[in-house]
Amino acid sequence: MRKRIIAGNWKMNKTVDEALELAAAIKEGIKTGDKIDVVLCPPFTDVTAVALVIQNTRIGLGGQNLHWEEKGAFTGEISAAMLRSAGCEYVIIGHSERRQYFHETDETVNRKIKTALSAGLRPIVCVGETLKEREDNLTERVLETQVEGCLAGLTAGQAAEIILAYEPVWAIGTGVVATVEQAQAAHQYIRDLLFKLYDRTVADRVRIQYGGSMKPDNSGQLLAQPDIDGGLVGGASLDAQSFLDIIHS
Ligand code: 13P
Repeated sequence: MRKRIIAGNWKMNKTVDEALELAAAIKEGIKTGDKIDVVLCPPFTDVTAVALVIQNTRIGLGGQNLHWEEKGAFTGEISAAMLRSAGCEYVIIGHSERRQYFHETDETVNRKIKTALSAGLRPIVCVGETLKEREDNLTERVLETQVEGCLAGLTAGQAAEIILAYEPVWAIGTGVVATVEQAQAAHQYIRDLLFKLYDRTVADRVRIQYGGSMKPDNSGQLLAQPDIDGGLVGGASLDAQSFLDIIHS
């Protein structure tokens, strides 16, 4: 049985003071014990502050991006070692907003995954189709290309460490959530790809989160699907109560 994992992707929101308040409210309200993994992914400037709030709790911390190089002249970038030293265990890689606005590709995502894994960070790797691709019946082909490209060269042991997030681009920040059937079908397809690329152990072990307008009123149904192992929550993670409601659903 895969342990559920709910992660809040705060994106470019929350000053340090706001982050402290939000993290404290989440810490106060959480009632799940160790039944599920909960992860907060604040902006880099908030990571250290949030780490202090959640220390000695079961809440995990993640970055929203990293560079594939270990260090050096890459102005504005953040390394895996920096994230680790600031208290992160996780890092989101290849979010569609980074692919769309910052030209990330499956190849750069692949490099970042390898860097993250060798630094002991657990990657949350995002894949998902655009509306046009879905309308053109290309969803499965897009997911296949992305999953294969992102995981290229990873051993079964490395692949098993990854968390995948299926985030249909058309559902992100739009209020349009994938239907339970659409989401489950995509998750099952991704799991089948893992079986094809690796083996049953990897396919059974990798957790696949759903992301895209997940809210307290739809999370229960989504999370009840056999291949949906958690959520990567954007907008609804910026409010402690709605994030807690999703966790407790
Ligand atoms: P929303 O929950 O705001 O749609 O964002 C989803 C997302 O992009 C999480 O990474």
